[in-house]
Amino acid sequence: MNKGPIGVFDSGYGGLTVLKEIVDQLPQYDYLYLGDNARAPYGTRSFETVYQYTLQCVQWFFSQGCSLVILACNTASAKALRTIQQNDLAKMGADKRVLGVIRPTTEIIGSFSKTNNVGILGTSGTVQSNSYPIEIAKFYPQIKVYQQACPMWVPLIENNEYQSAGADYFVKKDIDKLLSQSPGIDTILLACTHYPLLIEKIKQFAPQGMQVLSQGKIVADSLQEYLSRHPEMEAKCSKNGQISFFTTDSTEDFDSHATNFYGKEIKSTHLSL
Ligand code: DGL
Repeated sequence: MNKGPIGVFDSGYGGLTVLKEIVDQLPQYDYLYLGDNARAPYGTRSFETVYQYTLQCVQWFFSQGCSLVILACNTASAKALRTIQQNDLAKMGADKRVLGVIRPTTEIIGSFSKTNNVGILGTSGTVQSNSYPIEIAKFYPQIKVYQQACPMWVPLIENNEYQSAGADYFVKKDIDKLLSQSPGIDTILLACTHYPLLIEKIKQFAPQGMQVLSQGKIVADSLQEYLSRHPEMEAKCSKNGQISFFTTDSTEDFDSHATNFYGKEIKSTHLSL
């Protein structure tokens, strides 16, 4: 049987916050990371565009021998995953799988909120898709979901301005807008894989005791569980503990920014799509 790495995809750097947790938890597997930095951000793009870009990247992962690809990007998970799973996977190889980050998060969100009032912070695309309210309602119909799009946050992070006074202004503004929707919100989900870089600022502008959840650990736990429930997929994942990084934009920029997300030095390779 041909074995290959597990593919981890994001529009840019955000998926590295997820990859880091996955590798900490499952270091034995090989991973292939692709950041589509040249076309990021995805958050403000149309459904059709996000779908076309994501599909193209998924096809690349498959061409590299991956059987399992994780869309570590909420925008791609919200706007492209279902169509890829329902329409494209069968044509690309019935033995291949693409998983997202929304389902694993919504499955367990109910165990965090005591008030059953959950706030979602995400890109405009993720919020407009309504994926979180729809998915949470399937598992926890009693939970009220409040959403706030934070269109400035990804550009601030991608441009390394996330520790600036400008970031303070936009973080406070969007947190205030979210919390003004309900005084009962006790849990805020960072439904964008870039946002963990802002977690300290978010906690600073949220009331004391607010739970602020990022997805990395949740997705890592879910992948571990998936691999144990699907031994036929697990058997297709190679295990040499190797990680390769690809970006569709400049490797110099990627390598210098990526450390902030991944916590370690990275040496990437350029990919032209
Ligand atoms: N990191 C991506 C997400 O989780 C979004 C970044 C973007 O807008 O490209 O939604």
